Amino acid sequence: MLFGVDYYPEHWPETRWEEDCRLMSAAGLSLVRILEFAWSRLEPEEGRYDFSWVERFLNLLEQHGLQFVLGTPSATPPKWLVDKDPSILPIDESGRTRGFGSRRHYCFSNSNYREHAARIAEELAKRFGNHHLLVAWQTDNEFGCHNTALSFTPEAHAGFIDWLKRKYQDIEALNEAWGSVFWSQEYRSFDEVILPSHTVARDPGASAPDSMVAQGHNPGLLLDFQRYSTDAIIAFHQAQVDAIRRHSDPPVTHNLMGDFPDIDYHRLGSHLDFVSWDNYPSFEWGRAPYNVVGFRHTLMRGLKRRPFWVMEQQSGPCGWRMLGDTPAPGEIGLWSLQAAAHGARTIVYFRWRACRTGTEQYWYGILDHDGIPRRRYREIADTVETAGTYEQLWEQTQFPEDVAVVHDYEHLWSHRFQPHNPGFSYTELLQRYYTALATWGVSPAVTSLEGALESARLVVLPAYSLVDSDTAARIERFVTAGGTVIVTYRSGIRDRNNAMLEEPIPGPFRRVAGLTVGEFDSLNFGRTTTVEGAFGQDRAAVWTDSLDLESAEAAAWYGSGPFAGEPAIAVNQFGDGTCVYVGCDISPEALSTLARGWIESAGVQLSPFVPQSGIEIVRRTDGRLSYYVLMNHTGRARLVESTRPVQSYTTQQEVRRIRLDPYGTTVVRES
Ligand code: GAL
Repeated sequence: MLFGVDYYPEHWPETRWEEDCRLMSAAGLSLVRILEFAWSRLEPEEGRYDFSWVERFLNLLEQHGLQFVLGTPSATPPKWLVDKDPSILPIDESGRTRGFGSRRHYCFSNSNYREHAARIAEELAKRFGNHHLLVAWQTDNEFGCHNTALSFTPEAHAGFIDWLKRKYQDIEALNEAWGSVFWSQEYRSFDEVILPSHTVARDPGASAPDSMVAQGHNPGLLLDFQRYSTDAIIAFHQAQVDAIRRHSDPPVTHNLMGDFPDIDYHRLGSHLDFVSWDNYPSFEWGRAPYNVVGFRHTLMRGLKRRPFWVMEQQSGPCGWRMLGDTPAPGEIGLWSLQAAAHGARTIVYFRWRACRTGTEQYWYGILDHDGIPRRRYREIADTVETAGTYEQLWEQTQFPEDVAVVHDYEHLWSHRFQPHNPGFSYTELLQRYYTALATWGVSPAVTSLEGALESARLVVLPAYSLVDSDTAARIERFVTAGGTVIVTYRSGIRDRNNAMLEEPIPGPFRRVAGLTVGEFDSLNFGRTTTVEGAFGQDRAAVWTDSLDLESAEAAAWYGSGPFAGEPAIAVNQFGDGTCVYVGCDISPEALSTLARGWIESAGVQLSPFVPQSGIEIVRRTDGRLSYYVLMNHTGRARLVESTRPVQSYTTQQEVRRIRLDPYGTTVVRES
């Protein structure tokens, strides 16, 4: 494990740098990420570079045994550049230019800006790309943050039209795919195609009525524009990678944002040498429950199915205008171990010291404004010091990957454009299934369909809406060969163009599911209905499908509402495997009971621990033994009981009742 810190030498007097490096080194940190917002100091005027101060800082790093990650500064185009070429600024859905004054004020499709960004990256690579202390590069900072993944500039429009020409070749093919005959929206040439910006229609119920998704646009246009926007971001990133690669070999990453929805991270991830992401469990807008943080780590690991970095790990109370909770004693250490347990091999804390000026004055890091090391500094130093205990475990074990939840950005986008029900969220649905499975200590993967089918025995396809016959055939082969698949409501309803299918629901999944959906009911305004099954009596919310069974057998029934007495969940034996169709949303408790049954019948090992809320269990394996990382995410000491004999990883003693301190962790192994 390596530990580092995000540092902004340009924010502090040079006379302080040495003390900061000394303190970082004394805390056991070995890496410093620098420069990702420093353009105005690196190139104060066009073509006049000043890297001398960076040299001086790197000399100090060397003296203190520290290495560095180099960020390219393209998230903050300097004022001279914006003044010289205001066309680089992004434009929002309503046609307003988003100006200078915060950050990310550029449009990914602007070719001038892409060249400027690649040029400064190349200058940095020429000067520092072979520096012996350079460990990795980070391009830009958090692509898409502050709602910048989509831009509505003339360049984005032209780029989109080119992209459509390549995809469809013939305008009639586009009209057909989008069904643009609806409301006379047919295009006679590609040059007529619009961007999904400001229109007449508005969805007053949408949480952001001015957003692209609330303006009644054609769903095929929306999906293609979202796809194009990911491609524009990848091209922007790749231009910098190419520039760097002409002079420098260390790996290049970009800091992603966990379950951020606006970019297809599976596609962007394939252009990164390794995945890294920024983990803020708690800040001014709320606190992510530990299972959601676990889900985000797992999603990030699933992009390449390889270990990853946390490039920004929260290390203090955070906010811009208001402050989130101060991490309780032990919590920063727990977040760090949680990251490692889920597959992080390097953790970089954000940020070294709270800045005195600028927007992020309240975003505290390891040190406060006064620069004096206190409790958080000591906690991080302790975390680094004790990290060696588990080094071998992280090195020598993998994730079982026999259970997987399929994550797909195109499905996410389609559901975001038209969520069916105000209570529906694709990401939350995935998190519910992830949590229900993770409770049983199986460390479910969250990955693409390809990744899931490669290694899992139990695959969950939540609201897998956009399908073609090829996907359905792959699922059928997987189940025929003995796999278990869980398909939920709103699966198999659309084609890849985001058009509704003409077939009965669940479309090409009908055969494997052994049923059709006769009727459905979106449960609006808090309406619920009772449902009964192996989990006892529960309440269905959000959505109910009433199932017409063919070969499937009912496993749960509606007890009330318009579908009273009809099947809600059904199980179909297909070849050597099983397909379960879940036609409604049920409570986390009921889902967890079902998940246990699916895990057992898929022949996957359940953990020996009795699940408890607040206790996270991550399983890793060396192919022979299972290792369980137990984490107490509460401020109270807790006891965890094991139903089978396990040994402490550190003492090798057999243990049955394991005491976890507040925010405490331990590792046990089972032979
Ligand atoms: C992150 C970002 C950092 C910093 C932090 C606090 O999302 O990457 O640069 O801005 O948030 O806002």
